Amino acid sequence: MKLTTSFASFLIVISTVFTLIDAVDSRRSFSPQSINLWRLEKREKASADSRKAPHIVLQDTGHDDFPSAATVSSRAPQFPEQHFTQPIDHHDHTLGTFSQRYWVNARHYDPGSGGPVIVLDGGETSGEDRLPFLDTGIVEILANATGGVGVVLEHRYYAGESIPVPDFSTDNLRWLNNDQAAADSANFMANVKFLDIDENLTSPHVPWIYYGGSYAGARAAHMKILYPELVFGSIASSAVTHAVLSNWEYYDVIRQAADPRCSAYIVNAIETIDILLEDPNVKDSVKELFGLKNLKHDDDFASVLGIPLEYWQGKNWDPAVGDTTFDEFCKALNKPIIGSAHIADLPVGHENRLLTLPWGSQVDFSFSNYARYIKENLVKSCLDANLTVEDCFGTYNDTAFLDTSLDQDWRPWTFQVCTEWGFFDTAPLDPTYPRIVSKLLTLDYASKICRQAYPPGKYFTVPPMPNITAVNALGGFAIAADKLAFIDGEVDPWRPCTPHSQYAKDREDTTLRPFKLIPCGVHHYDENGLPNIADEPPQIQKIHHEMINFVLEWLKDFKK
Ligand SMILES: *[C@@H]1O[C@H](CO)[C@@H](O)[C@H](O)[C@H]1NC(C)=O
Ligand SMILES: *[C@@H]1O[C@H](CO)[C@@H](O)[C@H](O)[C@H]1NC(C)=O
Ligand SMILES: *[C@@H]1O[C@H](CO)[C@@H](O)[C@H](O)[C@H]1NC(C)=O
Ligand SMILES: *[C@@H]1O[C@H](CO)[C@@H](O)[C@H](O)[C@H]1NC(C)=O
Ligand SMILES: *[C@@H]1O[C@H](CO)[C@@H](O)[C@H](O)[C@H]1NC(C)=O
Repeated sequence: MKLTTSFASFLIVISTVFTLIDAVDSRRSFSPQSINLWRLEKREKASADSRKAPHIVLQDTGHDDFPSAATVSSRAPQFPEQHFTQPIDHHDHTLGTFSQRYWVNARHYDPGSGGPVIVLDGGETSGEDRLPFLDTGIVEILANATGGVGVVLEHRYYAGESIPVPDFSTDNLRWLNNDQAAADSANFMANVKFLDIDENLTSPHVPWIYYGGSYAGARAAHMKILYPELVFGSIASSAVTHAVLSNWEYYDVIRQAADPRCSAYIVNAIETIDILLEDPNVKDSVKELFGLKNLKHDDDFASVLGIPLEYWQGKNWDPAVGDTTFDEFCKALNKPIIGSAHIADLPVGHENRLLTLPWGSQVDFSFSNYARYIKENLVKSCLDANLTVEDCFGTYNDTAFLDTSLDQDWRPWTFQVCTEWGFFDTAPLDPTYPRIVSKLLTLDYASKICRQAYPPGKYFTVPPMPNITAVNALGGFAIAADKLAFIDGEVDPWRPCTPHSQYAKDREDTTLRPFKLIPCGVHHYDENGLPNIADEPPQIQKIHHEMINFVLEWLKDFKK
C-alpha cells in the first residue's frame, strides 16, 4: 500500500510540472531559461490541445495561479469587457490611440452614493487573469464593504486591444514604460464613463482606491506619489518598490523558508554540482545523470536545475489556485532509493545515505533524486517533443529570441525588466554564502536576454543594463504617504524588494499608513478571496477585515 501511494505521488509530480503554468505573471524575472520554459509549455499545451486532452491536467492555474481565461470565461458574462481610448504616447497625442480594456463589477454599487471606485491594476498579464479578484477577491470584498464600484484595468501591451502595436519589436515596445502606464491609469480615473452607470464617477469627484499586487503593487504605491490629487487611497500588495539589478535574495527567502530538510538537500546538491562542474573529467557524466549531457553550456545546465524553485512563488493559501510543485519536488528529493525508509531521517550526507556515482564520487541520495526529477520531468518533456536538450534549454542561440510577433508574450515584461526594473535572479554575490542555485547564475548570465532579444531599433535602444534610478527615485524601500497601505507576505520571495525588506527601516502600522505582514504569506496573499470571507483561513480573514476597516476609515476623510 505504501509503495502504491508513493508511486502515485510520483506520477502527480510528472504530470504537474509542465502542464500547469501560465508563466507570465509569476516568474517576474525572466531569465533566458524561463523563456525556454515558456516555449516548452506553450508547445506542450498546443500539442495537448490538438489531442483534445482532458482539461484536468491542463487547467492553466498558472504559477501565479489564478484561473485562466478559460476557467474565468464562464463567469465573464457578468463582467462585460469595456474600452477606454488612450493615446499611445501621453506626450505626443498625434501618434494615435489604442483601446484599453477594463471590466466593472457594479453589484454593490448604490446609485447616487458617489462611489468609491476600487480599481485593480492588471499589471504584466492579461486583465482576464485578474477577473477572479473582481468576482470573489479583494476588489469584490472592498466593493461590497463600501458600496463601491470595482474595476479591473488591463495594462497596456499585455493582451487584447490594450496592445497598441502590431508587434513587439524594440521600436514598438518604446511606449511600454512606467511613465506611460501610470499616465494611462491617471487618464482613466479622471475621464472614464462606465457603461450603464449614469453618475459621473471620475476622480477626484469621487474617491478612488488603487490596488495592485507585485509589479502592479509598486504601481499602486507610485500612483499615490505621482497623482495624489487623483488617487484617494492606494493599497500596494507585495509591492516591489525597490528595483535592483542582482536579486539574489529572491532564492534566499526560499532557502530560509522551505522545509529545512529540503533546503539542506538543495544546498548540498548545488554545492556538489558546483564542485563537480569544475572537474573536466566528470563534468559530462554529471550532466548525463540529469539527462543533460548534450547541453553545451554549464550555466544553461545550472539554470535548468533552478527551475523547480521558481514554483515556490505559486503557493497559495487557497488549494484551488495554489501551485504544489515545490512541495512535490521536495517530496521527490526525500524519497529513499537505498536502504530502508528510516534513512530519510538521517542528516544529509550521513554515510548510510551515500550513493556512489559511476565515476566514483559519493553523494547523498537526494542528489540522485534531484537528477532523476530533472530528467523525468523537464528533460522528458523536451525529448517527448522530439527536440534536443540544446533546442529546449540552450540560451546561446540569439536567433531563438528574435521573434517579435504578438504571441511571444514574454517580450513585454522582459522589456520592462531590461529597461527599468532589473530583478535578475542570481546566486548570492558572496560565494561563501549558502545558496540553492549554482554560482554560475551570474548577473551577466541572467541579464544576457536583454542583449539578445532586443536589437537596437531606429527610435529606441535597450540599455546594456536597466536604468533602475527612476523607479528608486520614487522612494524605494522608504516610499510612504498617507492613505498608502503596504501588505506583504512573510515568506514572499519578493519581500526583499518591498518596504518589508530586511534592508528597509521598520515602520509603525497605522490606519493612515497601514503596514502589514501576513504570517506565512507568499506572494500577494490578500489579492484572492473566497465568496464568503468566513470560509478563508484565519490569517487571510484577518487581513481582509483589516483592509476593509482601514479603507472605511480613509473614506470618512473624503470631502465632497
Ligand atoms: C465629471 O465631472 C467633472 C468635474 O465636475 C467634469 O470635469 C467631467 O467632465 C465630468 N465627466 C463626465 C464624463 O461627465
Ligand atoms: C516524435 O517522433 C515520433 C517518432 O518519429 C512520432 O511518433 C511522434 O509523434 C513525434 N512526437 C511529436 C510530439 O512530434
Ligand atoms: C537558432 O534558432 C533558430 C530559430 O529558432 C533556428 O532556426 C536555428 O536552427 C537555431 N540554430 C541552432 C544552431 O540551433
Ligand atoms: C538613468 O535614469 C535617470 C533618471 O531617469 C537619469 O537621470 C540618468 O541619466 C539615467 N542614467 C543613464 C546612465 O542613462
Ligand atoms: C458584504 O457586506 C456585508 C455588510 O457590509 C456583510 O455582512 C457581508 O458578509 C459581506 N459579504 C461578503 C461576501 O464579504
